[in-house]
Amino acid sequence: MLMRSNEPDWDALVDEPSARVSRSVFVDEAIHALEIERIFNRCWLFVGHESEIPNPGDYVTRRMADDHVIVMRGPDARVRVFLNACTHRGVKVCRADSGHARQLICPYHGWTYDTAGHLLTTGFDDFYAGKLDKLALGLKAVAQTDTHGGLIFATFDPQAVSLADYLGDARFYLDTYFNRTPGGMVVLSPPQRWVVPANWKMGALNFGTDNQHLYPTHLGPTAMELLGAPAKAVVAALGASHQVSMSGHSTVNTVLPPDQVIPYCGLHPDLIPLYEQTLSPVQLDILRRNVVTVGNVFPHLAWIQPALDVERSGNAVAGGTLRVWQPLGPHAMELTSWYLAEREASDEWKQKVLEAGVRGFGMSGVFEEDDVDVWSSVNQMCRGRQARAESASFETALNFLPVNDFAGPGTAYYPMLPESVQFNLLRRWKALMRRP
Ligand code: FES
Ligand SMILES: [Fe+2]
Repeated sequence: MLMRSNEPDWDALVDEPSARVSRSVFVDEAIHALEIERIFNRCWLFVGHESEIPNPGDYVTRRMADDHVIVMRGPDARVRVFLNACTHRGVKVCRADSGHARQLICPYHGWTYDTAGHLLTTGFDDFYAGKLDKLALGLKAVAQTDTHGGLIFATFDPQAVSLADYLGDARFYLDTYFNRTPGGMVVLSPPQRWVVPANWKMGALNFGTDNQHLYPTHLGPTAMELLGAPAKAVVAALGASHQVSMSGHSTVNTVLPPDQVIPYCGLHPDLIPLYEQTLSPVQLDILRRNVVTVGNVFPHLAWIQPALDVERSGNAVAGGTLRVWQPLGPHAMELTSWYLAEREASDEWKQKVLEAGVRGFGMSGVFEEDDVDVWSSVNQMCRGRQARAESASFETALNFLPVNDFAGPGTAYYPMLPESVQFNLLRRWKALMRRP
């Protein structure tokens, strides 16, 4: 790794004048350890959706990088996030992925907690000679927890800016896709979860946003046949759309040119009046002209909503997907994928949205398999000393400056194909990594 004194030489690793990035940032163990400390232990991380835990006592268990947490709705209906480690000896308290509980009982010696994390009993309280401080021995809560539009986030950093400030302009786009009716979105099933042998940044960069890969990677007939808009219209959209950067958060809204718009492609007509009621005029216009959106909230929450025609019926369905790139070391990530639809949608429509989401970008989704193949090959190739010593190119980022003809918030670039927004994600990565 390129070092300056004891600290990696971050400017050499992410070289801004040349838009080249050392490949070691995708494979190096020491860089990975610093990422956990400087990025994942500081940033706001997505841990779940409020509709997964609608009632007091409902919980899901999740990871925040190396740490395991319980996301639980307490007796006061508040969502809390605790370390899933018993305060007695650190044993994993909650073993299920999700469920409902009145109490959490550690399987080792039986310490028992209520749904707000308070220690109720050790089972042997009399042995503490009156010195047992139950208040201090509740499950350890993470420093801050907050929600935006049903999305639950937590951070280990007590000094972190508020969630609203952290998300910034990304709220506009998250709301356009995941908070666009009065009832908000609901998850359609428990999330799918699988391990991908690739660095988490491959996913973050791809969704935030690698637009050049669409045709080369997904050129096979199966993926292209699933698109809900004619391929010609999608090509026109690639040339007509902006990409947007927001302090390391990224999105692209692939909108069709005015003469080729398929209004609300893949969205149910019954829901359109609800969008009109909920969204601002600019959000509504983006949603109306969109055929696919992707985005990434730094560091590791991504979304995608492609309009897919999985039934080959000529009628597209836009499946709303949220996903997390959870690092498991430099060479692997755990991918968790949620499928969501509007609360007001019919059961029949929700089923179609779920099927479109799973068939396109589920564990064995048609697009997913294409992506995972190329991402994981970077980790395979760059384990080699020679390949690792080379750099990765983002040089098309150098030739395009921000434009001011896009109506949504953030720094917009045109068209969506150069690597501008992806490289800005790496600039944010570098800014955080160089801050001990
Ligand atoms: S480790 Fe949990 S009760 Fe002892
Ligand atoms: Fe892809």
